[in-house]
Amino acid sequence: MLSSEEVERIRSDFPVFKKIIHMAAAGISPMPICAIEAIKDGIRRIYHNWDWSWVEEVKKNCRETLAHLVNADSDEVALIRSTTEGINAVASGIAWKEGENIVIDDLEYPANVLPWYHQAKKHGLEVRIVKSENGFLHTQAFQEKIDERTRVVAVSHVQFVNGFRLDLKELSKMAHEVGALLFVDAIQSIGAMNVDVKELGIDTMSAGGYKWMCGPADTGLLYVKKEVLGEINPQYIGFESLKKEEEKELWGEVVTGLGYVRDYKKLSSTAKRFEYGSRSAPLVAGLKSAIDYLLKIGINRIERRIEMLVDYLMKRLEEEGYSTITPLDKKHRAGIVNFRPGLDLKREEDVKRFDSKLKERGIVISIRGGGIRASCHFFNKVEDIDKLLEAVKAIANEV
Ligand SMILES: Cc1ncc(COP(=O)(O)O)c(C=O)c1O
Repeated sequence: MLSSEEVERIRSDFPVFKKIIHMAAAGISPMPICAIEAIKDGIRRIYHNWDWSWVEEVKKNCRETLAHLVNADSDEVALIRSTTEGINAVASGIAWKEGENIVIDDLEYPANVLPWYHQAKKHGLEVRIVKSENGFLHTQAFQEKIDERTRVVAVSHVQFVNGFRLDLKELSKMAHEVGALLFVDAIQSIGAMNVDVKELGIDTMSAGGYKWMCGPADTGLLYVKKEVLGEINPQYIGFESLKKEEEKELWGEVVTGLGYVRDYKKLSSTAKRFEYGSRSAPLVAGLKSAIDYLLKIGINRIERRIEMLVDYLMKRLEEEGYSTITPLDKKHRAGIVNFRPGLDLKREEDVKRFDSKLKERGIVISIRGGGIRASCHFFNKVEDIDKLLEAVKAIANEV
């Protein structure tokens, strides 16, 4: 467990905490100073010192760090710009056969819904939706939707509205029994808990870096298991997607002006086949630095601290008599708690008014699914929770 001195030291690495109480890691997390400095250093390095050789190095290092974080091989990790990009890369890269189906559930964020419907329209597929019960997804309900024609089961590890955590191991078994792939949107779990792709049986996974990983927007990872890489033929390709030797060869042809308008021979057999076009190396350096920061603290310790904070918040909600749509049992929750303080947060104008009243008090949360979504990350304190509940109570008494 993190000691209170450690927590204070950690908090001093996030200058923004001098100004606000931040309980919105499920939306956008602040970055630690080291990540901000890594981005600035990267900009200086390439634009002041013109050291472009560093770009490939930082991308390689970041892939390795991301792979280490989720227990993958670095050849199974591609750098992407957002969760949505990764989901689309997988959804558009599968050689679909008409009549196949995709199983999702009714709690998914639209990023993990729309790309599947898009492919369904193009290829004559069926999207099957597993229904939740009081914010809970029973694995048995997935079993009822999965059949021999299921090609992909696409779920979030942790749901964005209520923080429900799915048992991926069990789901993976169900998907694999019929030869389907398990795709996971892991943006609400990586950085907050131990995500081990091997142990959980994940085939492919996408996550942006700007939430629980505390990295910058426009960064993220796409994981594709070695055995599955050949099954997903990228929709978009570029130089970077080719086998290393051919990438070099083609670049040589571009430089010398000899024969560069031509077909390619082979895509990379690694997840780099999903990388294309220029990207911001300073942002990649920022993501790597943020993850190194988390790893130094220790993901298991971060997970335990989040658990302690969520336990405390759930207990306080019970004392206040506020209802919650977050599961009560620890196994099925993570860093997100969603509660209703008796205020009506169904209309947009009410949400805006409530949100700005909290902002006036320097508190940042999110409203999702008509409730208050409070995120507890390792940098939060019990006092943040107390102040949030005090403010909510005061605002509720005003209306
Ligand atoms: C579960 C989930 N998936 C995807 C996204 C969007 O991710 P990105 O902006 O990285 O595409 C969000 C953002 O809130 C989310 O909560």
